[in-house]
Amino acid sequence: MNKIIGKSVNRVDGRLKVTGEATYTGDIKLENLVYGRIIQSRIARGRVSQIDTEIAANTPGVIAIITQNNCPKFNNLNFFPGGQSLPLLQDDQIYYLGQPLGVVIAETQEQANYGASLVGIKYEQTKPTITWEEALTQGHEPEKIFGFLPAKITRGDLELGEKEAEIILEQLYTTPMEHHNPLEPSATTATWEGDKLTLYDTTQGVFSTQKAIAQCFNLPPENVRVVSQFLGGGFGCKALVWPHTILAGLAALYVKRPVKIVLTRKEMYTGCGYRAPTRQYLTLGATKGGNLTLLKHHSKVLTSWLDNFIEPCGLASNTMYACPNLEISYYLGKINTTTPTFMRAPGEAPGMFALESAMDELAYALELDPIQLRLNNYAQVDPSTGKPWSSKSLEACYYKGSELFGWEKRPSTPRSMGNGNYLVGWGMSSAAFPANSTQASAKVKILTNGEVIVQSATHDLGTGTYTIMTQVAAEALGLGVEKVKFQLGDTNLPNAPLTGNSMTTSSVAPAVHKAALTARNALISKAIQHPNSPLYQVSPENIDVDLGRVFLKQNPTRGETYQEILTRQGESVLEVEETVGTQSQNYSSHAFGANFVEVWVDSDLGLIQVTRYVGVYAAGRILNPKTARSQMIGGIVGGIGMALMEETVIDRYSGSILNNNFSDYLVPVNGDIPPIEIEFIPENDPYVNPMGTKGIGEISIVGVAAAIANAVYHATGKRIRDLPLTPDKLLG
Ligand code: MOS
Repeated sequence: MNKIIGKSVNRVDGRLKVTGEATYTGDIKLENLVYGRIIQSRIARGRVSQIDTEIAANTPGVIAIITQNNCPKFNNLNFFPGGQSLPLLQDDQIYYLGQPLGVVIAETQEQANYGASLVGIKYEQTKPTITWEEALTQGHEPEKIFGFLPAKITRGDLELGEKEAEIILEQLYTTPMEHHNPLEPSATTATWEGDKLTLYDTTQGVFSTQKAIAQCFNLPPENVRVVSQFLGGGFGCKALVWPHTILAGLAALYVKRPVKIVLTRKEMYTGCGYRAPTRQYLTLGATKGGNLTLLKHHSKVLTSWLDNFIEPCGLASNTMYACPNLEISYYLGKINTTTPTFMRAPGEAPGMFALESAMDELAYALELDPIQLRLNNYAQVDPSTGKPWSSKSLEACYYKGSELFGWEKRPSTPRSMGNGNYLVGWGMSSAAFPANSTQASAKVKILTNGEVIVQSATHDLGTGTYTIMTQVAAEALGLGVEKVKFQLGDTNLPNAPLTGNSMTTSSVAPAVHKAALTARNALISKAIQHPNSPLYQVSPENIDVDLGRVFLKQNPTRGETYQEILTRQGESVLEVEETVGTQSQNYSSHAFGANFVEVWVDSDLGLIQVTRYVGVYAAGRILNPKTARSQMIGGIVGGIGMALMEETVIDRYSGSILNNNFSDYLVPVNGDIPPIEIEFIPENDPYVNPMGTKGIGEISIVGVAAAIANAVYHATGKRIRDLPLTPDKLLG
C-alpha cells in the first residue's frame, strides 16, 4: 500500500498561501462591514473620571462609540479560572496602560482611528506598581498553577539532600518580559444574525473561544460560531480570549452591522498577553562524582494586578533528573500590566534556561563533561510520579547530537578556542516537553463525485496541521493527498482541542485516522455484502484499498472504485465521525531532545553570533519530516531570539511599553541564524496515543537559551545568568 504518513509531503496549503488565496482573519470581507478602533488607557493605574465623546461622535464616518458609560453588563468576563479575567468597560477602574476604555466604530478603519484619537479622557491617576522591587513587597506564595496544578512540590528529604551534597551550587537566573510577536496580528470580525453570532477570529481554539464568548454574552454555545482557518503564528497569544474579540462582538451587536477589529502591532503588546518575567533561584547539591542529591527551584514570577496567571518555571525541574530530594516553589508578584499568558513552551522555556545553565555550572565545578553529568542523573522513570516513561530516547539524543556536532573535540577549559578576534565556545543542553493529548473528533465524507472531505475543528498555526491530517486520512483511505481535502478551524466541524500545549497532532491525528479507517471499512463491507460487487462475499482480510479502489489482495484487478460502491448503493455520500479519547494514565510521556551550539563572541564588542546548531529530538513518530524539521527550526529561531535579543522594556514610572514595535523589540532575522541541523531519533511508542506521536510544537525552544549561554561561557569564561545575553552584560 501507498505509505504517505512519514513522508515529506509538501504543504497542502502552500500554494494558497504564496498566491495570497488563503484568507486570514484580517482579510475577511463581509457586506456592510464597518471597523472598530479600541480606545486605550494612557495610564497604568487609577480610574476614568470623565469621557468626552462628543467631538469624536460628530466626526465623519463615526457610527458609534462604546465606553463604560453605555456598555451593557457582560455576563462573566472570567474566562480562564486559572488566571485570566478581563477588565472591560464594566466600571471606571484602570489596571494597566493600554486597557481598553472604549471602542469607536466607523465606516472606514481610518475614520475609526481618527475618531478614537478624538475621544477625550480624564484620569485620576494612582502610582502604578511596575518594578520587581515594588512587586516583591506585595506578592504571595500561590497554591495552584492554572487553578489545578500544585504550585509547591516537595520530595524526599531536603536536609538529607543538603547533608549528602559534597558541592552545592546556588544561583539566580532571570528572564525578562517577552512578547509573542506573531507576524499576523490578532483580529476579529463579528456579525450577528438575530441572536446568533459569528466570529472570524485569530484564535488557536474555536471551541474554547465559543465557550468564552457564549459565557460573556450569555448565549447558548451553539449560538456562537467561531471560524479561524489560517493563522500567521500564535505562540500562545491567540490561545485565550482577549478584549478585541469581545469588543468586536459587542460593537457588531450595537451597530447591527458586521464589525472588524484588527490590532495594530503596538496594540499587540498590551492586547493579548506576554511571557512574564522570572527570577529563578536554583540550588543543586551533588556528590563529587556528579550525582544530584538536592534540587531546589524557586521561581519568583510576575503577573497582572487583576489575575493569577503563573509562568510555571518549575515544571521541567520536576521531571528532568533523578534527584531524590527536591523542592519546587513559587512567589507571585503583581504589577500593573495586562495579564501574562502562555508563550512558546510556557514554564519549560524559562525554567530550562535556569536548570540547564545550572547543570552546566555544576559540570564545570565537578570537572565533568556536561553530558556525563546529565547521564549520571538520567531519570529512568518519571521522578515526579514514579511512573514508567511510555518511551524515552534522551540518551540517544545526547549521543547522536554529540556525534553530529563533534562534541568529543571540545576542550573542557573555557576560553580555549578562538579565531582571530573571536572567542569560540561550544555548549549543550537537554530539552523536554510533556507529550499530552486529549479527546478529539473527526469526520470523513466520501462523496460519489470522488471528493473526499475530512474535518476537525483544529488549527494550523503555520506549522502543518492541514498537511499532516491530509496525509493521515489519505493513507488510511488509500488515496493520494491531492484527493483529500482537510477542513479545520470552524465550530461547525467536529470538536477538537485548543491548538496549544504541543498536542494538536497527538489529539487530532488519532481521530482523523480512526474516522478514515471506519470509512474504509464501511466501503469494504458495502462491497462484500452486495451481490453485484466483484468482491461479493470475500473475507475483509483479503481486501486492501489503494488509489480510491477496494480490491482483492491476491488479484488487484478484481475490485471496484469507491464511487462505484456508493453509486450502486444510491448514496451520495458516505459519512462517518469518530472520537478518540484521552491518554493512558499508566505512563508518563514526554518528548526529549538535546541542543548543541557553537558561538563566536567578538572579544572587543561582546557581540554573540550563533554559528552552528545541532538539535536532536526523540519525539515519537514523525508524520512529516519536512514540516517537522521546519517546526524545529522555528522553535530554535525563537530560542535564539530569547537567548540574545528578546526583552520587553517597560517604563518604570508610567508602565508604558517602550519597545512596542518591530524596530525596537528585536527578534532574529536571517543573518542571525546559523545553519541548523535537525535529527529525529526514531521512536516507536505504543502507549502515548494511537498514532505514536509526541508533539513537536514547543520542545525545540526548550533549552536553547541555556545551550547558548553555556557556549558563551565556554567561549569567554563569563557566565551570564540574565537573559537576553546582550553585549553590555558580557563586557560589564
Ligand atoms: Mo502554546 S504557548 O501552548 O500556544
